[in-house]
Amino acid sequence: MRSLDEFATTKLAGLERADLRRRLVDTTRLDGIWAVRNGRRLLSFSCNDYLNLSQHAAVKAAAIEALQQFGTGSGASRLVTGNHPLFAALETRLARLKRTEAACVFGSGYLANIGIIPALIGASDLVLLDELSHACIWAGARLSRATVMAFRHCDLGHLRALLEQHRARHGRALIATDGVFSMDGDLAPIAGLAALAERFDAWLMTDDAHGIGVVGGGRGSAFTASAMPNGARAEVALQMGTLSKAIGAYGAYLCASACVIELIHNRARSFVYSTGLPPADVAAAIAALDLIEADPAYAALPLAKACAFTRRVGLPQAESPIVPLIVGDAEAALQASRLLEDEGFLVIAIRPPTVPAGTARLRFAFTAQHPDEEIRRLADVVRNRVLTAAQAQVDPVHGSQG
Ligand SMILES: Cc1ncc(COP(=O)(O)O)c(C=O)c1O
Repeated sequence: MRSLDEFATTKLAGLERADLRRRLVDTTRLDGIWAVRNGRRLLSFSCNDYLNLSQHAAVKAAAIEALQQFGTGSGASRLVTGNHPLFAALETRLARLKRTEAACVFGSGYLANIGIIPALIGASDLVLLDELSHACIWAGARLSRATVMAFRHCDLGHLRALLEQHRARHGRALIATDGVFSMDGDLAPIAGLAALAERFDAWLMTDDAHGIGVVGGGRGSAFTASAMPNGARAEVALQMGTLSKAIGAYGAYLCASACVIELIHNRARSFVYSTGLPPADVAAAIAALDLIEADPAYAALPLAKACAFTRRVGLPQAESPIVPLIVGDAEAALQASRLLEDEGFLVIAIRPPTVPAGTARLRFAFTAQHPDEEIRRLADVVRNRVLTAAQAQVDPVHGSQG
């Protein structure tokens, strides 16, 4: 249709003018850390494979064995015939790791969030989101048709004010947030959020896509020292996360009480009406969890490497393996990314709408196997050649996060 193509072309031209057009680039990941892109071998600081487990021999062997035994696909929704026995094994492991009664595995993080929230929350209810929550939390909240409000990033005072003003007018209430913020790398104030949830009878949901495997001894953001004042774990009724980052596979989970999980089986549309994950993927996730539980010191490495980087550059100390360097406008972020690529580093520029306007950035993701000497070289290039340009542009509100 001509009008359709005209619409697409005009939209793309607008994105191009604003430096916001995105393109797929073939990227061949060679192992956990190196990738070939545009014919060049680059050290990648843009993969979320924080523990490099997608390339681990034991993880791959588990996937191959499951593929041989059960085939390539699960063949149907889990509620029909797609519930191969590996799901129960994985869910038992996840519930144990997160110390909940039960768990439910979903096809992806996006599917999980757009399924979980509308299954629990409806039109007369209230959803309060940290403003920097991941796009799929926003999508799930909007799908629920509840009243959706954002509180300022990690601002407990603002959340409390919104609860005081609006909670009483709604039946159920949900507070949702990234546990580790995907583009900023900071931790949600989980203990404070849990206290407010308790006080206002709201349910707390964390998305730990970037927390599982790498913070809280590998158990995630609800198990970090700040989430456990006096050693007691903050109550997070709904612990969601993904299997696609530190776990090195694909898919997502919700860990919660047994009755909540059973309700999810019945009411989360992206669970009910979507095919179960392939057996090889589920087997890979189980093998990855085995490795993480067996070696917490290895799970601590990405954060330690991120801290070495922030120390050397002179940025605020990393709280997770993710370190943002906010540059300001999209073109400047692209330029900084190109400069690092010339030095042999792959650090993708993150631009709006993934991040708020004016906060385009470089996002560094550290992994267990990044060599220390390369991190030092990266830090020196960033300090001497990128930071000076970035500081000239940076939005003062976000400057404290680098
Ligand atoms: C915080 C967060 N939640 C959810 C997702 C989506 O997960 P998935 O890639 O499995 O759809 C991502 C990114 O992928 C994320 O960063």
